Amino acid sequence: MIEKKELTVHLPGRELKLHVAADIEALITDNNDEEKVPCWADIWPAAYGLAYFIWENMEFMPGESVLELGAGMGLPGMVCALKRADLTLSDFNPLALEMAGENARQNGLSVKLLQEDWRKFACREKYNYILASDILYDPKLNPFLGEIFLNNLKPAGKIIITHPERKATYDFLETWYDPRLFSQERFIREVELTDSLLPRYKIAIHVIASLQAG
Ligand SMILES: C[S@@+](CC[C@H](N)C(=O)[O-])C[C@H]1O[C@@H](n2cnc3c(N)ncnc32)[C@H](O)[C@@H]1O
Repeated sequence: MIEKKELTVHLPGRELKLHVAADIEALITDNNDEEKVPCWADIWPAAYGLAYFIWENMEFMPGESVLELGAGMGLPGMVCALKRADLTLSDFNPLALEMAGENARQNGLSVKLLQEDWRKFACREKYNYILASDILYDPKLNPFLGEIFLNNLKPAGKIIITHPERKATYDFLETWYDPRLFSQERFIREVELTDSLLPRYKIAIHVIASLQAG
């Protein structure tokens, strides 16, 4: 049983109440095994940056689909669902999906849950939007995500990648991004977190649009 605490996310004109793990350290079973570090159990600064960016800048047509990869608590995806997108949250950790699903339902949002590992991603469904909040941090895993972006995005769809200016993410984009297939817009969104040791972050946002006709 995971001990939880409630967080309120303030979007202009709307609040979301989310439960996250009260004590992340307590969930660590093996510090040497990256897969057992519970990075899913909190909301990362890049997720706040993406959530605010979506709330302030994006609208969805009825039925447009959004897949959030490595969703953890799924905050950015939930903001898309608030704007009536058809949301799928995906992670390889079943506890993450359970908590994210409960969070979505408690905020009155409907959501599909997809348990998939990027290294053997079997889902063949294509989405209008793919969200990637702080998941391109490991050069060993990044090529798998690059494949998912290519295989699971609809023609004319958009991939939105956010990160706290990580070298591994910039390096991935340097080699993966192909201007014959995509266009890209970049933004920096400052994020202030009140309950964090490091209160201020600069979040890089890449909006990568497929040039394939829809
Ligand atoms: C740094 S956390 C980011 C969580 C969330 N996107 C955010 O920004 O708050 C990385 C997420 O990716 C998930 N993840 C890591 N490796 C994965 C893999 N091989 N397949 C699927 N999900 C994975 C973790 O469970 C975790 O939820």
